[in-house]
Parts: sequence; structure tokens; C-alpha cells
Amino acid sequence: MAHEELEWSDKFSTDIVSLDQQHEELIYLSQSLLDTLSDDCAPLPKKQTAFKNLVDHALGHFDYEERIMRNIHYPDYEHHLSEHDDLRKEIGKISESILHGEDVADWKGLVSLVQVWVLRHIVASDTKIREYLRQADMP
Ligand SMILES: [Fe+2]
Ligand SMILES: [Fe+2]
Repeated sequence: MAHEELEWSDKFSTDIVSLDQQHEELIYLSQSLLDTLSDDCAPLPKKQTAFKNLVDHALGHFDYEERIMRNIHYPDYEHHLSEHDDLRKEIGKISESILHGEDVADWKGLVSLVQVWVLRHIVASDTKIREYLRQADMP
């Protein structure tokens, strides 16, 4: 299964070190999941573990990021929260089938979900936190 490499880049920075570290970790775990899924010889428990690692970190991260946004009075909080909630729902749906058995269609859906949720969300939405912080700092 071919996929683009996911790699951390400074252009994803939110200007908040702890958030950036979590994003970097999520990108690393996503890449590691995609690598595991690409390996036809990888046994199901290995795929499940790689998936669970990413999900656990992602869910913890959403809560953390929401706390930060509330603390800095982020104006687009409600909209961002609804994006996280959509991702939580998708993760919940896909988790159920993946952690309870093998379904090839689900693994394929998972690859695109990972790409959408990790990269697109960080690039399109999380980096807006940086824009807000930089604007708020202006005299
Ligand atoms: Fe986010
Ligand atoms: Fe994030």
C-alpha cells in the first residue's frame, strides 16, 4: 500500500511547544501505523497495537489542545471543537471494527482517515492557533 511519508515540519508549528511536541508524536505514530499497514506480513495484533497507540495519543491530545484553546481564549474554539468531535466520532466507529476483528475495507478507510485527521487537521486548523497568537501579540 503506497502512501506519502508523514514528517514533522516547522511550518506545522503552533508556537506552543507542548502542542508541537504532541503533533510531532502524532505524526510519528501515524507514519508508524501506515508502515505497519503496508507490511503484508504484519500480524493483526501488531496492526491493532499501532492503531491503538495512535488513537490513545490522539484522543488525549484533543482534550489537551481544547484546554489550551480555552486558556488562551481562542476565538474559533467552538468550530475547532466540532472538528475534534467529528474526528472522535470517526475514530470511535473505526476503532470498534478494527479492535474486534479484521476487515480489509476498514484498514483502507483507516489509512485515509489517518492522513486526513493527522495532517489535514494540523495544517488547516491547528496552525490557525499560531495565527491568532501572533495577532494577539501585536501592539
Ligand atoms: Fe486540533
Ligand atoms: Fe492538534
